[in-house]
Amino acid sequence: MAQRMAGKVALISGGASGLGEAQAIVYAREGASVMIGDLQEELGHKVVAGILTAGGKAAFTRLDVTDLASWHSAVALTVATFGSLTTLVNNAGIFHPGGIETESEAGWARMVAVNQTGVFYGMKAAVPELLKSGNAAIVNISSLYGLIGSADAISYHASKAAVRVMSKGAALEFAKRGIRVNTIFPGQIRTPILGDITPEQDAAIKASIPMGQVGDPMDIANGSLYLASDEARYVTGAELWIDGGWYAGS
Ligand SMILES: NC(=O)c1ccc[n+]([C@@H]2O[C@H](COP(=O)([O-])OP(=O)(O)OC[C@H]3O[C@@H](n4cnc5c(N)ncnc54)[C@H](O)[C@@H]3O)[C@@H](O)[C@H]2O)c1
Repeated sequence: MAQRMAGKVALISGGASGLGEAQAIVYAREGASVMIGDLQEELGHKVVAGILTAGGKAAFTRLDVTDLASWHSAVALTVATFGSLTTLVNNAGIFHPGGIETESEAGWARMVAVNQTGVFYGMKAAVPELLKSGNAAIVNISSLYGLIGSADAISYHASKAAVRVMSKGAALEFAKRGIRVNTIFPGQIRTPILGDITPEQDAAIKASIPMGQVGDPMDIANGSLYLASDEARYVTGAELWIDGGWYAGS
């Protein structure tokens, strides 16, 4: 069977862990060359080693998504290593709880810097190379919390909702110039971002999901693979919810 990402070169932010790691593994399995950009260097190198052992192509670069210069370096290194850049996955993200009364100014600023400004910087730094490729894709990872509210995550909601509409704007900006931009909205997926949760919290989460279970990182990776591949050549500005039915009931 033809590999679905043959000839693609992808830069994946936050690729050292969780959903980013799963996307890196699936993209590489399908023939893409993958540059993992993350703050977590040891974990990132471990993911790269696993991909190389499986016969794939991958490399790691330290990337801080809140720093535009760091993005420019990551893009330049990707092109120097693999010859081009066709695919950007803005996946890096952080979460902490907090409502209007409890969220601090610093907490707000940090969340917006990583989850929102980081996505803008990623697109800004990658676009010149993506345009050169003539057939490029950006996949932005928002969250179901970018679509619905809750009482205790004000800055996360704000930053993830921004990703939703930024993606649509970018999709229109580049619709005629060979860059598709789509967004994934994960529901609850078991990764380190969820932190340590009690059995009671775990039960409450599962109860709120129509399918009755949290998702696996590969559930997100498979959706991302579709949006990044040429199978989605006519898909831009789209929203893909991967959430066990959660949004259907909201
Ligand atoms: N897991 C879920 O249930 C869930 C649900 C909705 C949305 N998401 C989103 O999915 C994305 C991936 O999250 P995850 O669940 O895999 O969490 P994770 O914590 O396993 O991975 C996030 C990665 O982002 C990296 N990162 C954080 N700040 C960074 C920075 N400034 N520069 C570069 N890298 C940075 C971390 O080092 C980490 O490797 C995030 O954007 C998150 O908001 C996750």
